[in-house]
Amino acid sequence: MNSKITPELGRAAMRALFETRSPLGPLKVMAQHVGRFFQIPLPGFRPYVVFGPEAARKVLVTERDKLLWRNTDPVTDLLGRGVLITDGEEHDRYRELMEPPLHPSNLSGYTQMMIGQTDRVTSQWKNGDTVDMLVESRKIALLIIMQTLFSKDVWKDLPRIWNPILKAIDFISPGAWIIWRNIPRFGFRKPLRELDDYLFEIIDERRKTKETHQDLLQHLIDAGLTDKVIRDQMLTMMIAGHDTSTALLAWIFALLGQHPETHAHVVSEVNSKDRSPLLDHVIKESLRLYPPIHIGNRRVAENMEFAEGTVPAGERMFYSIYLTHRDPSVWENADDFCPERFAHGRKTPPMSYIPFGGGPRACIGAAFGQAEARIVMARLLQTFSFEPMNADKIHAHMGATLEPRPGVMMKVLRIPPNF
Ligand code: HEM
Repeated sequence: MNSKITPELGRAAMRALFETRSPLGPLKVMAQHVGRFFQIPLPGFRPYVVFGPEAARKVLVTERDKLLWRNTDPVTDLLGRGVLITDGEEHDRYRELMEPPLHPSNLSGYTQMMIGQTDRVTSQWKNGDTVDMLVESRKIALLIIMQTLFSKDVWKDLPRIWNPILKAIDFISPGAWIIWRNIPRFGFRKPLRELDDYLFEIIDERRKTKETHQDLLQHLIDAGLTDKVIRDQMLTMMIAGHDTSTALLAWIFALLGQHPETHAHVVSEVNSKDRSPLLDHVIKESLRLYPPIHIGNRRVAENMEFAEGTVPAGERMFYSIYLTHRDPSVWENADDFCPERFAHGRKTPPMSYIPFGGGPRACIGAAFGQAEARIVMARLLQTFSFEPMNADKIHAHMGATLEPRPGVMMKVLRIPPNF
């Protein structure tokens, strides 16, 4: 398989790296020239990459027991025993505790709170301001997730936790540590400790209070978990539950900025219908083109056979959501923004659209994340007009999630009531 990696291919991959300013470019070149199974040919970093519906089914459903979610990388260092990175019975126990507050049947109860948190953030905008929707979306998503899961209003605490949260995200983002495992990483100890202090304070307050709560934090406390394990689940949910939504909201704005006709059409629908079908399709298409979680990271515990080759036990393997969503043999005009493709139900094979993963470990917040995007987007588009200021300068950055960089700059004007 690696014999297919010629010097020309190496050069094409390097060119794609510079052109796209992201490792997504070289990954796409590898996929085009080598196929749905290849190894990243970097010194000290040679994970296998698989993609496509058949591979996704194996990895997520039929052969998932051959894989470990736990990896020896900073994600594990940060999240400890978090549900995202534990395996077996321990994982299943945490997951069972965490599902109820995010169950689709509970979602309608969050609508007004989501609208209220959106309005709090926009109350700071002045007419004619240019705001970065990557930053503003993060504020909204953080307020919403902390209120939903821990009944914690973090509005006044945003200045205290903002930098520690960005540092935590930076800590788990890909970087030089991938190749040089023991490279010293400076500047993280203090902010990560500050974030821990904040979470332990919330746990402590809750243990002391006489008020009753029915949220995730209460489930974790009532289950008898230690403060440390509760902190691990809280941090996992806080990061997984807001960084993804931040990226999704920001990408929707980026794409609307690049497609003014769709933008105008969505605005008209959110103002004339209870629920805009086009907004639903825009959300789906954004998740297809720029899936916030663009790969699943696994350690292979038992040899895994794919049509194109074997991944030996002990190796690291990525299943690429990004490449699956842009596979031209599955998706027509795979790189084009075309929300209408979702207008008449799914036409592509099962496991070809996997923005939330799949199988028993599919995203625990999939329904919540989509409802949140719908509610927040509708509210923003009903209350403000948005004029894109840097639509042609945005590129995908591979951080902890796939983010639109250098940000999504929008000039905002409040729409007068009854306009
Ligand atoms: C647009 C929003 C979101 C996207 C695109 C997204 C995407 C994903 C994906 C792709 C996975 C599977 C990863 C893998 O297979 O390795 C996943 C898992 C997970 N997500 Fe999400 N997510 C979103 C929102 C949320 C929210 C709102 C929460 C929590 C409130 C959440 C919590 C989790 C957790 C805990 C897991 C691990 C589940 C397990 O291993 O059992 N996510 N997410």
